[in-house]
Amino acid sequence: MKKILITGGAGFIGSHVVRLFVTKYPNLQVVNLDKLTYAGNLMNLIDIENRENYRFVKGDIVDASFINELFEIEQFDAVIHLAAESHVDRSIENPLDFVMTNIIGTVNLLNAAKKIWSPSLGKEIAGKRFYHVSTDEVYGSLGETGMFTEETKYDPHSPYSASKAGSDHFVRAYGDTYGLPVVISNCSNNYGPFHFPEKLIPLCINNIKNSKPLPIYGKGENVRDWLFVEDHARAIDVIFHTAKNGTTYNIGGHNEWKNIDVIRLLCTIMDRKLNKATGTSEKLITFVKDRAGHDLRYAIDSTKLQNELGWKPSLQFEEGLEKTVDWYLANEEWLERVTSGAYQDYYNKQYTQ
Ligand code: NAD
Ligand code: DAU
Repeated sequence: MKKILITGGAGFIGSHVVRLFVTKYPNLQVVNLDKLTYAGNLMNLIDIENRENYRFVKGDIVDASFINELFEIEQFDAVIHLAAESHVDRSIENPLDFVMTNIIGTVNLLNAAKKIWSPSLGKEIAGKRFYHVSTDEVYGSLGETGMFTEETKYDPHSPYSASKAGSDHFVRAYGDTYGLPVVISNCSNNYGPFHFPEKLIPLCINNIKNSKPLPIYGKGENVRDWLFVEDHARAIDVIFHTAKNGTTYNIGGHNEWKNIDVIRLLCTIMDRKLNKATGTSEKLITFVKDRAGHDLRYAIDSTKLQNELGWKPSLQFEEGLEKTVDWYLANEEWLERVTSGAYQDYYNKQYTQ
């Protein structure tokens, strides 16, 4: 039985990836390593936590000796690395946290993988894989036209995107220098269930529910390319299983929206779901000071992934957003607990590194 390490599996995207791998591949042993920061929550995985091929380990990827020992004991065959500090606004407040987890943490994992796989490096690396999950933000900002391809030059603007760009460079460097079997994907903005309510869409769902202002940075003209999170998890599955070592794939929804239009659509859906008069939620829209270094537009060209590996997004945005709203309205307890931190504290006490 092969053993795979998924880092950051208690977070938003990681929990969807863990769920997909645990349920789709019963013969794969999945170890979820997560520090359970404010963004990580084992409540996200309650439905699969008792599966025989699933195990949770609490730990910090910044702790090199812990990571080396874990790899030594577990002898993982593969890694899908999602653990990260992921919120741009927090990176503007505390850049060093992002350097530590996103760069140092990634290098710790690369070193540990290199150490246990080194006897076969250059000879037999079949079956081994270090898959690094990255973001389209490394490419910087687009003007009115154009799309990010895998050949677009890196041009990060926020401490978050700079730290992710740094981690991508280290992953490629370990592939080139040591022959580590690496793969990278760069994805656009995800949305869907279990999204922490500091990010635009879940923040606004939560605020509409509580009749609080919806803070729109600047004029709301910035454009993001939204992808339903389960489509990202499916793309990771396809890339993990079929991509060649050393390759990179862009993942995106071909689904560009101005922030203000996303929020107007969300308001319409919420008014309908909450039986409020049309236009009620839109009154909550409040234009606030712009984010520093705010990238104007992201748009992903995922032609390579679609043509070479046959993946494509499954959901239209309107349908995905409605599904997302339904999930948040049906999971009020989740929302309350992640915003209060109560459940996280409970699990933090249960598991020690
Ligand atoms: P998230 O913030 O929801 O989850 C991150 C997870 O990593 C949490 O469970 C957290 O506890 C864990 N973690 C953080 N620091 C850790 C550490 N030092 N050691 C161990 N675990 C730690 O993030 P997300 O939105 O699910 O993003 C997951 C990955 O996907 C990230 O690498 C991010 O850069 C990338 N990504 C995200 C998006 C998006 O739209 N959210 C898009 C493209 C790429
Ligand atoms: O593009 C992929 C990236 O998408 C991921 O790598 C990041 O981890 C993820 O957080 C996301 O980054 P963004 O900065 O695009 O996501 P966020 O939800 O923070 O913001 C989306 C847009 O909405 C962005 O233009 C900023 C704006 N915004 C955000 C917040 C939180 C607002 O106008 N108001 C807000 O309160």
